[in-house]
Amino acid sequence: MDKPMNVCVLVGSLRKASLNGMLANALIWLAPSSMKLDIVEIGQLPLYNEDLETAAPPEQWTAFRQRVKAADAVLFVSPEYNRSVPAVLKNALDVGSRPYGSSVWDRKPGAIVSSSPGAIGGFGANHHLRQSLVFLNVRTMQQPEAYVSHVDKLFDEHGKLAGDGTRKFLQEYMQAFSNWVQTIRSD
Ligand code: FNR
Repeated sequence: MDKPMNVCVLVGSLRKASLNGMLANALIWLAPSSMKLDIVEIGQLPLYNEDLETAAPPEQWTAFRQRVKAADAVLFVSPEYNRSVPAVLKNALDVGSRPYGSSVWDRKPGAIVSSSPGAIGGFGANHHLRQSLVFLNVRTMQQPEAYVSHVDKLFDEHGKLAGDGTRKFLQEYMQAFSNWVQTIRSD
């Protein structure tokens, strides 16, 4: 069997009890064995400032860039903040996109899962993120889409997914993502 694909998971919330963190862990658990997923932290990245883009940029930027560059694909799991992408996630996109000409996102297969305790499932964040990913040339999976609504009702007190319907949907989503990454890599 081929080595599993190495997939970075970026979570757009820094909160310890983040529902998106729980969702990311559920997606990792439900993913097919063709994928090995790891959450890559983004909260430690200094805010992007071009003045710091010297011969010795912040070490957190360098480590993050190297980690994403080495990945076969990237999965974004994010809440919506004010109908858009949380600043911490946008900062990670910006950090990875520079220095000009060395973006770590270029041609990387990707997928987006957004969520919300509300009914719209983070649609605004999902599509604002897609807008940046178009420019960054991330090969973002278009279908299936994942807007997870009422995310605060999905987990039991141990942080395990409570409903069979959601589990099946997320499992199929991850299988589709694995197929997508394989298709893009053989392109
Ligand atoms: C939110 N929340 C929110 N929810 C939503 O559906 N649409 C939105 O535009 C916003 N805006 C927003 C802004 C800010 C600054 C915060 C802190 C929150 C609510 C949000 O979905 C909820 O707090 C989630 O639980 C956040 O995700 P985590 O931290 O649980 O992963």
